[in-house]
Amino acid sequence: MALDAHYQKMRHLHLRQLFAHDSRRGERFAAEAAGIYLDYSKNHVTDETLRLLLQVAEDCGLRERIDAMFRGEKINATEQRAVLHVALRAPKDERIVVDGVDVVPAVHAVLDRMATFAQQVRDGQWRGYTGKRIRHVVSIGIGGSDLGPVMAYEALRYYSQRDMSFRFVSNVDGTDFTEATRDLDPEETLFIVCSKTFTTLETLTNAHAARTWCLHRLGDAQAVRKHFVAVSTNSEEVTKFGIDTSQMFGFWDWVGGRYSMDSAIGLSTMIAIGPENFRAMLDGFHAMDEHFRTTPFERNLPVLMGLLAVWYNNFFEAQTVAVLPYEQYLKRFPAYLQQLTMESNGKHVTLDGDRVDYQTGPVYWGEPGTNGQHSFYQLVHQGTRLIPCDFIGFCQTLNPLGHQHDLLMANLFAQTEALAFGKTLDEVKAGGTPDWLAPHRSFEGNRPTNTLLAERLTPETLGALVALYEHSVLTQGTIWNIDSFDQWGVELGKALAQRMIPELENADEPLPGHDSSTSTLIRRYRRFKAG
Ligand code: F6P
Repeated sequence: MALDAHYQKMRHLHLRQLFAHDSRRGERFAAEAAGIYLDYSKNHVTDETLRLLLQVAEDCGLRERIDAMFRGEKINATEQRAVLHVALRAPKDERIVVDGVDVVPAVHAVLDRMATFAQQVRDGQWRGYTGKRIRHVVSIGIGGSDLGPVMAYEALRYYSQRDMSFRFVSNVDGTDFTEATRDLDPEETLFIVCSKTFTTLETLTNAHAARTWCLHRLGDAQAVRKHFVAVSTNSEEVTKFGIDTSQMFGFWDWVGGRYSMDSAIGLSTMIAIGPENFRAMLDGFHAMDEHFRTTPFERNLPVLMGLLAVWYNNFFEAQTVAVLPYEQYLKRFPAYLQQLTMESNGKHVTLDGDRVDYQTGPVYWGEPGTNGQHSFYQLVHQGTRLIPCDFIGFCQTLNPLGHQHDLLMANLFAQTEALAFGKTLDEVKAGGTPDWLAPHRSFEGNRPTNTLLAERLTPETLGALVALYEHSVLTQGTIWNIDSFDQWGVELGKALAQRMIPELENADEPLPGHDSSTSTLIRRYRRFKAG
């Protein structure tokens, strides 16, 4: 393959050489869309690399796959489902047809219902059972029914209604629910139970705990009406739980859990920031969708980022990608991206069912800057592994405090410069460092980074940023020829846990069929669990 031969040349080139060779590299290797500027010049790429990568995208049918997704075709092959998170942010006058039905009117009908409800809660028209105003919203969900809402709430907290508190409960560990509710007044608390299937163990268990907690104080089962709403695709299970479907906000099987933060799953986000800001977020998503759908690949941000990820993953053998937001409000963004990227592209079988003979999805991880600098950046700068990093920053801060924003951004730019160019042994020695210490103090550099720079963190920018990563994931998955929209790998652990529950609860329950490690651990747990 031409890229293999090209890689053999590129692997010996230092970023210093690439920059020395082209004084306009920093401007040339950049692209912009939907308010996001991507500088990808500090990567191991030349025009030739891009030409070859873009050719791979063409050869792998990326154009066709994008078009198929936007047309509502069932590109989630193993679940036989359309993949239409883009329909969630389509304007009213667009038509997207699934199984003969235009889904856009239904999307807007739910958005309108959400807006009415969110507004009622925000302005105090929707009251608790005893007539008190709702002051606390607790969203219960897990995975895609939690990570998006938590991330979006934290990211857009600046725009949130400050006289209300928002909490999120996901873990089946009782500590999560207990700590989230310990200082709340049930009379002032609204629970939003979010689950696409409404059968997820963690969510249903926490929802039952919430119901008990609420009714313990309010006494009357009628109170559920005022204190619980559901977000789901499964009205039957919602009814079974005891929430009337008039209090349910729906979505559809063509929305994957990890692609659902802009569906009704985002109800807590909408209550927090208000319907107008929520719609602005959807506009940001849509702007990036349109960019992805229509812009030639060589200027297409998600395509470029996806191809770079493939380049490092499959040629440089990078195992991870670090995502480093220099924005405190984005502190949960890496956690959100972990599900989006790894549940999507953590696959070892192609769309045709064959085992792949190449690496697929890398591990995504990260922390906000500058905190990470004082923790794991040492390994990124001087370790033996290549870790491509995405740096994310904003030109304006939402919270001006002295010159702190300049300090923050100086650190971002300095890190990408240091990672790319390093400091040679000679430079270190020239600074007076003794020979024996110089190897420890020198930096090879040549560590690749993307920088994503936007003007200001707004609902629109957040939408565009999330859509950018969503479509980068699709780009990568298309090249690897995998189904980025199923998640069969989570099933086995769920089934085994279900089987084990009685074995833990009942000390007499036999333990057949376990390996010796697991049965010893279970026995030990049973012996000590009573304290
Ligand atoms: O276990 C993984 C998963 O199925 C995710 O894909 C999903 O986001 C999460 O569980 C929660 O599922 P649900 O929204 O159906 O409760």
